[in-house]
Order: sequence, then C-alpha cells, then structure tokens
Amino acid sequence: MTDITTQKPGPQEGTIRLLGIETSCDETAAAVVEDGNKMLSNIVASQVDIHAQYGGIFPEVASRQHVITIYPIIEQALQQAHITLDDVDGIAVTRGPGLSGSLVVGLNTAKGIALANHLPIIGINHLEAHIYSAWLDTPEQAVERNPKFPLIALIVSGGHTELILMTDHLTYQRLGSTLDDAAGEAFDKVARLLGLDYPGGPAIEQAAESGNERAFSFPRAWLNDSWDFSFSGLKTAVLRTVRRLESSDLLLPVNDLAASFQAAVVEVLVTKTLRAANEFEAEDILIAGGVSANQSLRQQILELSEFPVHIPPFSLCTDNAAMIAGAGYFRYCAGQRDGLEIDALPNWPVSELS
Ligand code: KG4
Ligand code: ZN
Repeated sequence: MTDITTQKPGPQEGTIRLLGIETSCDETAAAVVEDGNKMLSNIVASQVDIHAQYGGIFPEVASRQHVITIYPIIEQALQQAHITLDDVDGIAVTRGPGLSGSLVVGLNTAKGIALANHLPIIGINHLEAHIYSAWLDTPEQAVERNPKFPLIALIVSGGHTELILMTDHLTYQRLGSTLDDAAGEAFDKVARLLGLDYPGGPAIEQAAESGNERAFSFPRAWLNDSWDFSFSGLKTAVLRTVRRLESSDLLLPVNDLAASFQAAVVEVLVTKTLRAANEFEAEDILIAGGVSANQSLRQQILELSEFPVHIPPFSLCTDNAAMIAGAGYFRYCAGQRDGLEIDALPNWPVSELS
C-alpha cells in the first residue's frame, strides 16, 4: 500500500542509506546516498549519442536501452559506494513524470530488487527530486547552508517549467508553469532550427558565447504578470527570422540568433522568479533541472538576486539518481513506504504531492 504521511521529516536513528534508480527519460542512472546529502556513488549512463541521430528522444529506443543498462549501472553504483544491498535501507525510484515505457523499467527493476532483498520501495516524483538535488554535497561543491523555507523553486527541464512556492519540506504550491513548450524543449527546438546538435541547451549556450544578444529583439511573454510561462511565441519568432534570413541568401548568423534567443528565455525566467520571491517573502531561491546548467541563467540570477540562490553543481543539474535517493530520504523520514503494486505516473504534477 502507498502510505504517504503528512508527517515532516524527523530525526532518524542512525544513518539512512538509499539506493536511487532513475529511468524517466534518456539517462539510466543509479546512486547511493546517505541521509539525503552524502553521495557515496552517482552513476549516469547517458543515451544522448544514441538519440542525437534522431534529433530528439526516441521513446522505444530509450526503454530498450534502459533494459540493457540498468543492472550493470546498479552494480557499479553499489561497487563504487563499497556496499552491498544488505547495507541499504530502501530503494528510491522515479515513478513519474516521464516516458511511461522508460519509467516501468526502473520501477520493475526496483520491485525485483526490493522483493528479493526485503527492502521498502519509495516512489519518487522526478520534479521533487530535481529540487532535492540542492541538498546534495558533491566532490565539486559542498552545500554550505541548506535551503531555507519559504523558498521559491524554479524547475526548468526538457519537459517542465514550474515555479513553485515551498513552505516546508515536501510541501509545494505550484504558482505557475509553462502554457506550451518547456524551457529546455524551447532550447532543443530552436537548436534544431539553427542546425545545432541535440541536446539543444548546451549547443545554444556554446553558440551564444560568441554571439550578440542584442542582434535580434525577440519577444518576452510576460502573460500579464501571471506566474505562468510561454515559449512557443519566441520559438515562432526565431523561426520567422531564420526563414527571412535564409531567403535573403545571407549566411545565417547562428551565434547572434542563439544569443538573442537565450537572452529572451533567461530574462523571463529570472524576472518571474525574483518577482515571486519578493511577493511571497521567500528566504531563499532554488533553481534546478537541466536548464539550470546554463551559465547565463546562473550568472544573471546570482547577480540580480537579493536572496540566497541555490543551484546544484553541473553534474546534478541534468537527470541523475542521486537526486532521487536524496528526495527519497525526506520521503522515507516522513514515513513513506510503497508496495510492489505502485505503477508509473507519466503525468504526475508536483502540485499533487502534498
Ligand atoms: O532535467 P533534464 O536533464 O531532463 C528532463 O527532466 O527533462 O533536462 C534536459 C533539458 C534539455 O532540454 C536540455 O537541452 C536542457 O535541459 N539543458 C540546457 C543546458 N543543459 C541541458 N539548457 C540550457 N543550457 C544548458 N547548458
Ligand atoms: Zn529531469
């Protein structure tokens, strides 16, 4: 039985060590994390090279690849942590949102291991896990101070753009989200328009480095000061500009287009996040998800914010299993234990969590 109590995480006796499993999209990942912050291992097998030839994620290929990779990745995660399953207190596994064919691979693997080793399963929301990546220490960046509540969390990934008010651990109020494309999706689509590689975010960021962000004046969708986002108008504006330039026989100024597009996305994300932090009298700001790896976004929010800003180190911005085990710890402490019957929730919004 799924048993999510509303109890807040309390002090636990001894160390809680969780195995995390993540297969929601195109990364097959396993990790071992102690007490929600100490990473003993974090193994990610990316399928990016496989999907790059299709210019995006091919769902059937993704799930087949997860099946091939998941067990060796888990073994590697345990080995690197110098432990066996006997030393693990539970298995945190992504339940959603994500691709259903990919999610079931991780879930079924977790169920098999749980059954054979008498371990509890903790089904985790992938977006919640992105948030909890801010509590994880890494060799490159130790968390100096844990995020304080109330906090404004901006989750920007390939599938989601969510502005969330978090008043306590595991307590979320969704303020706004995208009405059309997610921020990462916009990066990926515009990269394709510009003839850049998949995934588009890093490719646009690189091209933008030597571009002029004032070369093109692309629209910012403020949506009457609501907390929602929209990136499809911006994408269409880039498309129209590209078509116009192509018909004029001029060389496409890819770097300027990339820089101008990136500036438009970053300005809206930063402005709305800061406005929400002021309005809801936040203590801190937290930014997570694949797009939070973007240097321009990181620099601007750090420069403009009067609030302490938490952004995970690069290795934890994109999908990984340490964040699943990290969020799993807080759910475990709140008493969540799931049974073998839990299924995938491909469209699981963070607002349904509490
Ligand atoms: O969180 P994530 O790894 O997977 C999902 O949960 O979707 O995010 C992947 C997204 C992709 O759309 C990718 O283009 C974008 O994050 N991304 C970036 C950067 N690195 C990854 N976007 C902008 N700048 C980056 N440096
Ligand atoms: Zn993600």
